[in-house]
Amino acid sequence: MEEQQQQHLWWQTDVIYQIYPRSYQDSNGDGIGDLQGVIQRLDHLKWLGINAVWLSPIYPSPMADFGYDIADYTGIHPLFGSLDDFDQLLNEIHSRGMKLILDLVPNHTSDQHPWFLESRSSRDNPKRDWYIWKDPLPDGLPPNNWLSVFGGSGWEWDDQTQQYYYHAFLREQPDLNWRNPEVQQAMLDVMRFWLDKGVDGFRVDVMWHMIKDSQFRDNPVNPDYQSHMATYEQLYPVYSTDQAEVHDIVRQMRDVLDQYDERMMIGEIYLPIQKLMMYYGIDGKGAHLPFNFQLLSLSWDAQLIAGAIDQYEAALPPTGWPNWVLGNHDQPRITSRVGVQQARVAAMLLLTLRGTPTIYYGDEIGMRDVPIPFEEVQDPQGLNMPDKNLSRDPSRTPMQWDNSEHAGFTTAKPWLRLARNFARENVLAQKNDPFSMLTLYRRLIELRQQEPSLMIGNYVPVHSDNQVMAFIRQAEGHPGFLIVLNLSHRPCYVKPKHGPLKGTIVLATYPELEGGTIEETISLAGDEGIIVRLSS
Ligand code: NOJ
Repeated sequence: MEEQQQQHLWWQTDVIYQIYPRSYQDSNGDGIGDLQGVIQRLDHLKWLGINAVWLSPIYPSPMADFGYDIADYTGIHPLFGSLDDFDQLLNEIHSRGMKLILDLVPNHTSDQHPWFLESRSSRDNPKRDWYIWKDPLPDGLPPNNWLSVFGGSGWEWDDQTQQYYYHAFLREQPDLNWRNPEVQQAMLDVMRFWLDKGVDGFRVDVMWHMIKDSQFRDNPVNPDYQSHMATYEQLYPVYSTDQAEVHDIVRQMRDVLDQYDERMMIGEIYLPIQKLMMYYGIDGKGAHLPFNFQLLSLSWDAQLIAGAIDQYEAALPPTGWPNWVLGNHDQPRITSRVGVQQARVAAMLLLTLRGTPTIYYGDEIGMRDVPIPFEEVQDPQGLNMPDKNLSRDPSRTPMQWDNSEHAGFTTAKPWLRLARNFARENVLAQKNDPFSMLTLYRRLIELRQQEPSLMIGNYVPVHSDNQVMAFIRQAEGHPGFLIVLNLSHRPCYVKPKHGPLKGTIVLATYPELEGGTIEETISLAGDEGIIVRLSS
């Protein structure tokens, strides 16, 4: 086992856990999570079997987009602590044998970043070309039809210098001009700053946005647009995203990482599979893990999902390592998408597929999206498009640790309201309950980390129909595992087509099944999933 694992690096064998720092643990009683809070909870993560933590942004920021608008790339926002707190956190993480992945947001800065303040100060400022400035059309309109992801035009008029600047997100998040070599060097230096400190990797925000069409052509209209969709979807972002030259930038970032030991880069990229694959780079010298978001958007249908897995596996470049995600701070939680029962099946899927899993904080206790009353909405995406139910607040609520007044998250009023059921659904209540979601997650992670077949073995599809999917994971020289997942609420029956399989159920979404053997036709109750250690 040791030998095989040694050929794999930590970011291939570890389970990644995303922390949204505002909502994880408050240590100083201001209602907002912070770095000392994260330190307090590292033992929980270690207990859960997590070895790699990704922290959403912790840098100085006016918080127009909750930290994704950065005003200083090499500092820590006082809300979260200080650089000393950060050093302590990194130390505490490393001393537990864990890794730390930081969020890097290179596509845009805050409009309060000194670079932008300089850039907007005059047309001949040396930093003018660090951002994307354009003249208006003769009639005064913006230079093209590009839209902001958060609603409205992507162009903002600057009265003082009489030009528009481009922002793919909020007007408070001007896009950097990545065609400018000075910008490139400045951001690569940011990476070096954190790498020199010992940070193990980056999750790179909106990697596919970083370069825009050099001619700034209009984006084509999406004929399938419907009014419930985000306004951004009125156009296909053909010219504003995913330009060929972005791969040169990714390659440069990779070169920086490769000057250090075993550092890695995840790319946040929402693209169809074929385009996503390009981000692994020529000869695998791009992102180590271009995030694979398929499970976030596919309908919860066994046949569809099994098909998507096959396609993804087939499309991977020879050296490309797969990865899977069920949720993040921009998406509805898995429990709210597929229901509490199916969320158990989803957990089993995430942790038995081939490739690095990323767990979103709180999913391990089955946290659900929390309804946020209209007047309490904080997310700009929600505020800007109030009629479309697009606020991301519901999946960003404070972690539910115990049944004390504010769920053990804070002693003050939390920045975002807690789930109403936190007194029942929390880490403490679930920790020793053999039937809880937390116990299921912990046992799934443990089995994955113990069994080379689950950690690094091949993926072999066995069966899928409109209710159930089954596959085998097997590493050479090790017992294989059959995973059968019922993605429906009704009983299902599977007869593997290559003949009967023999084995013992070692883990099930409902532990009663464990220890049993499988029949020629495997039958499962609704919402059940099993992991079978194969004996032949
Ligand atoms: C992607 C991040 O995940 C999201 O939270 C943010 O709003 C946008 N990028 C803009 O940075």
